[in-house]
Amino acid sequence: MHNIIFYDTKQYERDFFEQELFGKFNIEFKNYELLPETELSYIEENAEIISVFTSSRLTKETLEKFSNLKLILTRSVGFSHIDIEYCNSKNIIVANTPHYGDYTVAEFSFGILLNLIRRICYGVSELKQGDMYPETFGMELYDKTIGVIGTGSIGSKTIKIAKGFSMNVMCYDIYKNPDIENEFNVKYVDLDTLCKLSDVISIHAPLTTTTYHLINAENIKLMNENVIIVNTARGELIDTEALYNALLDGSVRGAALDVLEFEDTISNKRPGSDLNLKNLRTSLINTKLLNLDNVIATPHIAYDTKEAVNRILNTTLKNLFEFVEGLKIQNKV
Ligand code: NAI
Repeated sequence: MHNIIFYDTKQYERDFFEQELFGKFNIEFKNYELLPETELSYIEENAEIISVFTSSRLTKETLEKFSNLKLILTRSVGFSHIDIEYCNSKNIIVANTPHYGDYTVAEFSFGILLNLIRRICYGVSELKQGDMYPETFGMELYDKTIGVIGTGSIGSKTIKIAKGFSMNVMCYDIYKNPDIENEFNVKYVDLDTLCKLSDVISIHAPLTTTTYHLINAENIKLMNENVIIVNTARGELIDTEALYNALLDGSVRGAALDVLEFEDTISNKRPGSDLNLKNLRTSLINTKLLNLDNVIATPHIAYDTKEAVNRILNTTLKNLFEFVEGLKIQNKV
């Protein structure tokens, strides 16, 4: 029987996998993340299959401790927490769970956007303190221009929802998808044009070497001063210091963020494992950023619905069975 170790699990995940895999696999559940400093038992070191969430850090250092690893099941779309190059060099297959949360994350992007521009959280908290008429002067989405960066699974749903708000949509992606142009009657533009013309910029590209600090001091200078930036992708796509400065001096009107650059350091459960001077500086700026009135930030929860979690669990199971049955793994990254 194969050994599988599930890291960073919640009770509902343990219940699900126990019911589905009992008697077919030797399973172990850990309620903590797998990190470079995690000490492994003999069983873990020899496991062929592990499953993790995005909060684990599968660096070369972490992975080298596994002597027999053949498959990593990440219960996420993003895989920037896994050293894919190392996995390829060792023939370790990595499988993810794409499409589990296309509407889930797109809906959430509009949730935090509306919350910010209509000052909903602020209004709620003022009312709780007895102020029936707080200052909530806001901005509408109707007839505004949204620039969508990354028109994959989530970006395309974001475009669809934006059309429902009667917004004008433009998009940027390294690959143009003609179906999106035809279905939604939207135009692909270059990144600079998108920055210049958008009232709202919503980011849905993955974190790669080419998207690191995709939004930076240079292209922030091109943006109109009423622009709102929404990021539910990965924090590292934005140069946090440049964004912070722009929010302070008013060259960006607001930011709605579900992800932060080097967000690990904010976790009470786990201080950042790769603290260096640059990361320390980013965490300090994060702290200042979170306290700005024109920022709304949530703790990486855009994916978190019952429906999406069910899809994650079922796709993880499908990836696992494809592997053990020797079939082609459809979601191999
Ligand atoms: P996807 O792979 O379907 O789409 C990504 C799109 O970005 C593709 O069209 C791709 O061509 C484009 N892209 C890649 N490099 C680019 C570049 N340099 N410039 C512009 N576009 C580029 O991915 P999906 O499912 O839409 O997810 C997007 C990201 O959302 C994930 O990578 C993940 O980081 C994030 N995410 C966040 C969640 C949360 O809870 N906050 C949950 C799920 C995903």
